[in-house]
Amino acid sequence: MSKQRKKKKKAGPGKAASADKYDLYQKSVQVPDYEADFLDRVYKDEFGKSPSVLREDFCGTFAVCCEWVKKDSTRQAIGVDLDPEPLAWGREHNLSKIKPEQQERVTLLKADVREVQGTKADIVAAENFSWWIFKTRDDVKRYFKAAYDNLADEGVFVLDCMGGSDVQIEDQEDIHKYKGFKYVWEEERFDPITHDCRFHIHFRFKDGSEMSEAFTYDWRLWTLPEAREMLLETGFRQVHFYWEGTDPETGEGNDVYSKETSAPADAVWIAYIVGVK
Ligand SMILES: C[S@@+](CC[C@H](N)C(=O)[O-])C[C@H]1O[C@@H](n2cnc3c(N)ncnc32)[C@H](O)[C@@H]1O
Repeated sequence: MSKQRKKKKKAGPGKAASADKYDLYQKSVQVPDYEADFLDRVYKDEFGKSPSVLREDFCGTFAVCCEWVKKDSTRQAIGVDLDPEPLAWGREHNLSKIKPEQQERVTLLKADVREVQGTKADIVAAENFSWWIFKTRDDVKRYFKAAYDNLADEGVFVLDCMGGSDVQIEDQEDIHKYKGFKYVWEEERFDPITHDCRFHIHFRFKDGSEMSEAFTYDWRLWTLPEAREMLLETGFRQVHFYWEGTDPETGEGNDVYSKETSAPADAVWIAYIVGVK
């Protein structure tokens, strides 16, 4: 990942004032088509058959739910988020773009992910590090237990995690260019004692304007062995890690994940954690 020192830009009117933060987020952060295929693959790796019901916890604008039901006419998706704002945005911009028959197979719950409700799922997914909102082992395990209880008898719980030495460096930005804007991932604070960390997403435009702190995350940086311990303590039978390969030309991640039991100490890495029920 490219790391650059922080340069403060003036927020101002211009493009930033009229831009839609959820639209920019979806264009830069999410690849729902890829995510849906990955979740399908993880379930098949484990059980050798196709999954049907996906529960997308912390779903935000539930783009993955919409992609999930589009790919197979027998699938159902349940999206869960506490915040009505992204749910409403997703209804207007994502749900409205799929066929009525597909819309009927998406259920949205404005709820806490720690509640146990809805159809039992084959896959519970919690993406973009959302589980890091829980900062104590008790809180994480309460969530993991709810995920376990929301799964069918055979099910997988798929989480993501990031790490590496660069993730413990404060005041740095990772910048990626997209059509018409730049996505900026800023780590403002990392506390080595508590592992509390604070990240922001900013969007910058060619006219010099910036949508500063479009999204802010106050998280605890959890590690893979901690996640494994908590999943096993919660009742999951097995825990697997899917590690991203490296593009030899750029030295960056290549979006190809494989199940590994040991991994290189990359400066920045993203991995998937899979708890098997
Ligand atoms: C980092 S965003 C993730 C959005 C999307 N899943 C993605 O992959 O990009 C975290 C989302 O979790 C939601 N959230 C935070 N705490 C929650 C909780 N306890 N229960 C349900 N949703 C929660 C927030 O409202 C926000 O939409």
